[in-house]
Amino acid sequence: MSAPATEAPPSVAVTTGAPGSDPFAEPDPLRLPAPDAPFTEGEACADPTCSAHADPTRSPVAPPRWPEVDRDSAIGWYRWIVGHHVAVCAWRLLREHLTAAPDTRNPADVVGTSAVAAELYDAYSALLLYSGSCSPEVYAEVIRARMKARHPAFSGTWARDYEHVTSLLAAFRPVADDRLRHALRFNRVVHMGIGRRLVPEGRSLLREAGAHVEDVTDADRDRFDEFFLIDRVAVCARGFAGQTTGRLDLVLADLAGRPADVDYGDDRVNAFQGDLAAPLERLRDLARPAPRRDRP
Ligand code: HEM
Repeated sequence: MSAPATEAPPSVAVTTGAPGSDPFAEPDPLRLPAPDAPFTEGEACADPTCSAHADPTRSPVAPPRWPEVDRDSAIGWYRWIVGHHVAVCAWRLLREHLTAAPDTRNPADVVGTSAVAAELYDAYSALLLYSGSCSPEVYAEVIRARMKARHPAFSGTWARDYEHVTSLLAAFRPVADDRLRHALRFNRVVHMGIGRRLVPEGRSLLREAGAHVEDVTDADRDRFDEFFLIDRVAVCARGFAGQTTGRLDLVLADLAGRPADVDYGDDRVNAFQGDLAAPLERLRDLARPAPRRDRP
């Protein structure tokens, strides 16, 4: 692997002037409670940007600059981190819906939860395509290299929010309707398509390192959070909604200026990629109202 080239960031590297939209600057960390903890009720909210609790007189903090690389690498890396942030937000919303619901004896409850979960899975599929839209070269030389440098077995299985969703889904799946089953299958197809394109030899770092999905530890989960700039702190529902919609605005602005147009050799995936804004705008709608609270 050659070292990433260094060059000055181009002056027109971004599509919007919104804070956090510069692919050469590190985005704000995503602040989230642990997946088994509910949103906090009020003043304990540790999100300094939360519209409900933030100090409006706080002066903005200049984000650190990432190491300089060429423009495609900067964009690929930015999408990898911001795309993962929003995927984590989609998982958190799934967690809210699957925890607060459903009364599985009530068909209306099951249909409603299935429909929202399917939309959230479609949004996750869109975010997989956004996060993984770089070239295989950028993936190998920048993204995979940085994950491998963090840990030789670095893996998506270390994502604690997804792990939590998987167990909630296992309980709900037997009653889920076809729309959700379809969204889950399609998500798998998309994930595999991205894997095949970005890692043609097909082996994840986890498998290359000879590690096993069953052996995930809390240290691995912490490493995933740290790598993807996720801080586990108390956050209220409004703070979460603001972080999610703010990042979605960045993703939608980025895609409007630079649509993802990879050929996956699969008509359904290519067609879905052709309108990533639709599932992402739906995610923004779902994120906007305060998520439902856990049942006592
Ligand atoms: C595009 C962004 C990506 C995201 C958000 C993501 C996320 C995840 C998550 C959450 C898991 C654990 C649960 C599951 O199996 O679905 C996982 C597992 C896995 N991912 Fe991804 N992934 C991405 C890209 C990739 C790429 C580029 C590859 C190429 C090798 C890949 C290969 C795998 C494999 C093989 C597993 C199974 C466990 C393992 O062997 O590590 N994923 N991914």
